[in-house]
Amino acid sequence: APHPIRLTVNGDVHDVPAAPDTALLHVLRNDLELNGPKYGCGLGECGACTVLIDGVAARSCVIPVRAAQGRAVTTLEGLGTRQRPGTTQQAFIECQAAQCGYCLNGMIMTVEALLRRNPNPSEQVLRSELHHNLCRCGTHVEIMQAAWRAVQ
Ligand code: FES
Repeated sequence: APHPIRLTVNGDVHDVPAAPDTALLHVLRNDLELNGPKYGCGLGECGACTVLIDGVAARSCVIPVRAAQGRAVTTLEGLGTRQRPGTTQQAFIECQAAQCGYCLNGMIMTVEALLRRNPNPSEQVLRSELHHNLCRCGTHVEIMQAAWRAVQ
């Protein structure tokens, strides 16, 4: 059996019996049952799997779980609950920004990461930040409204 990997996720410490090269996304979803981060492309291109690592947005489908050891991982679940959504989550709920909703984890986590390092970004900065998050339903207008509301 592999040596367990120690992960801190949303403030909780877990020892996970995962192979070190396993994608962080799979450990989060399969071992820890955190299904906020989504599997989209598996290639680091769509952003559906975005989590925060030490507060910075990271694409968990291309990060081996060993690289997250000793660092603070935050998933969508760590931002708030259904009863008490975080500010960014609340903005997306209010704007009803979801079509199928599959991309929203990435959108929300990307906005959250931006706001943690720059609490007052311009719309231009916000746009360029979300530029590499893909939405196949084409709800970019609603997503931008929600993201802008989260900023304000
Ligand atoms: Fe990770 Fe697409 S699933 S970037």
